[in-house]
Amino acid sequence: HVQQRSYHEKVLDHYNNPRNVGSMSKTDGDVGTGLVGAPACGDVMKLQIKVDPKDNTIADVKFKTFGCGSAIASSSYLTQLVRGMTLEQAGRIKNTEIAKELCLPPVKLHCSMLAEDAIKSAISNYYTKNPKARQTDLGGT
Ligand code: FES
Ligand code: FES
Repeated sequence: HVQQRSYHEKVLDHYNNPRNVGSMSKTDGDVGTGLVGAPACGDVMKLQIKVDPKDNTIADVKFKTFGCGSAIASSSYLTQLVRGMTLEQAGRIKNTEIAKELCLPPVKLHCSMLAEDAIKSAISNYYTKNPKARQTDLGGT
């Protein structure tokens, strides 16, 4: 459809210079992979986290997004946000925080939802591969 308003400069910055683009080996034990799609438009996002098992923090993060500018900006911003966070903290990020930071218009909210879904999916994949980490996080302080 016709774009009603121009993109916010933060979206353009992330779109033109996306941070942490790339991928990691899915089969590595310390890597969690999230692959999600947006039903609203069919765009797809892959997000991978490398976890430091000592304290369950995100040591590295990479993404690839086959989607619109807002989806690319949302995932780029998300990768900056989650680096260094614990899995528990990263799992609590809401798409509304991303949308607010990037000043996304309502019609683009689903693009930031893709980023929230992707990090949740990457974390759950890591937990599936490392059941002990899940126990620590759920039982820990
Ligand atoms: Fe309009 Fe994606 S560009 S919904
Ligand atoms: Fe679908 Fe942005 S238009 S992710």
